[in-house]
Amino acid sequence: MNKFFVATPTYYINDKPHIGHAYSTFVADVIARYYRQQGKAVLFSTGVDENAQKTVNAAEAAGEDTAVYTKEMSKLWESTWKRAGIDYDVFTRTTSAKHKKAVYELIKRVEASGDLYKDTYEGFYCVGCEAFIKEKELVDGLCPTHQKKPEWIKEENYFFRLSKYQKPLLDYIDQHPGFIQPKARHNEVVSFIKQGLQDFSVSRSTQKWGITWPGDNKQVVYVWFDALANYLTAADFPDESYKKLWPVDLHIVGKDIIRFHCVYWPAILLSAGIELPKTVFAHGFFTIDGQKISKSLGNAVDPVDLAGDFGVDALRNYLIAEIPFGEDGEFSHKRFEAVYNSNLANSLGNLVQRVAVLATKHLDGKIGRLPKTSVNSDNYDKAFSEIKLTLALEEVWKYVHKLNLFLQEKQPWEVVKTDRNKFEAIIGQSVADLLEIASLLEPFLPETSEKIKKTFANSKVHVEVGLLFPK
Ligand code: MSP
Repeated sequence: MNKFFVATPTYYINDKPHIGHAYSTFVADVIARYYRQQGKAVLFSTGVDENAQKTVNAAEAAGEDTAVYTKEMSKLWESTWKRAGIDYDVFTRTTSAKHKKAVYELIKRVEASGDLYKDTYEGFYCVGCEAFIKEKELVDGLCPTHQKKPEWIKEENYFFRLSKYQKPLLDYIDQHPGFIQPKARHNEVVSFIKQGLQDFSVSRSTQKWGITWPGDNKQVVYVWFDALANYLTAADFPDESYKKLWPVDLHIVGKDIIRFHCVYWPAILLSAGIELPKTVFAHGFFTIDGQKISKSLGNAVDPVDLAGDFGVDALRNYLIAEIPFGEDGEFSHKRFEAVYNSNLANSLGNLVQRVAVLATKHLDGKIGRLPKTSVNSDNYDKAFSEIKLTLALEEVWKYVHKLNLFLQEKQPWEVVKTDRNKFEAIIGQSVADLLEIASLLEPFLPETSEKIKKTFANSKVHVEVGLLFPK
């Protein structure tokens, strides 16, 4: 198939973006850039999840009108991704009219399958999770994820017949072994489903903020039901053209929201007769300098600010290279600086600089015809096809180190004194390999890649591009 649809979750706007959110977004950006390079029609969607109770609470705490607050915060999220160089195709706001249309059509189809009914819900609701929570899941009466006491609610709601989809879901997962990745998450979801699925409430009658339930203005659509539909909105559902990009090829989510994406969402899609996503990949959770990320600790800083003078490419490199994709990770300021100096500045920055200076000094900046590159991208492509991003990036670094060794061994700065042709051949080979390295780096470090390409554009050296990684 010549298309690739990759999606991040839609982020809650009760808070500002931090490194945890940035991680989901960077990863999706890397993947989108890779498939664009491969010539696929890519849809990279992201956005904001605005219809939550926590939006109302946050607006209240800020002393603002909910709609005004929502608009401001959505702008902030969008501008953060722009500042971070995220090249998304669609940014969905769940308060938009376009999204409401998709949600209504989805509800219509689920209803037509006989999967909605009215009943009374009585139980706990955790605003942090924006989810109903069972008593047995509480630890000392608190939600284990948010360490907060859930609210006890009793209301008449519309329910979705999730129980009906227990077997179809298990069958689907069984027939599509790559659906939930990594394997540990797959196992987690399978055992959750096997414990038995219960119908769940898909509307709220006590919440006023949200999408009005079609034909019942006393209820709003439950925020997760609404939020998950954003993926359809991004593809222009219900316009028939959505099928050009549907289904989602890859959902990037954090491990905390896997149940929603691997159980609720596919069940809703089965009910609506809409094709299921190909893969849901759950990444791990982050800490900063050993601490949980939280507002109160003051470490929930803007990701672009966190990158600081080192730049966003350095942050992208750190996150992908240092944290095996799929596992929990740690952002350490010390390690970030160390990786910047050793890999980026010394190995790659100096390499580009060295080749550019030699060519300028001895060839007047003219490189001539380039030979075939010695860089082979087979392992890199294989790693991408298996969503092993850390491995794919490692492969690029392997070639950077190899090229450094090549120069050390060939000593062009000595060769130039005696053999000009040989010198030209060494520089030609180095430039050909650097350009190929730049192209492999593009999904990961787009700015750096661009600078390398500019440094050696049109078979000439452009020293004016400057250092890649100033110290
Ligand atoms: N709004 C829901 C998602 C709806 S998708 C239809 C939501 N939003 S969120 O803003 O709380 O989180 C969005 C993403 O950020 C999730 O993938 C989550 O795992 C990720 N992260 C938030 N904090 C994180 C860390 N500390 N570390 C890694 N990722 C984390 O859930």
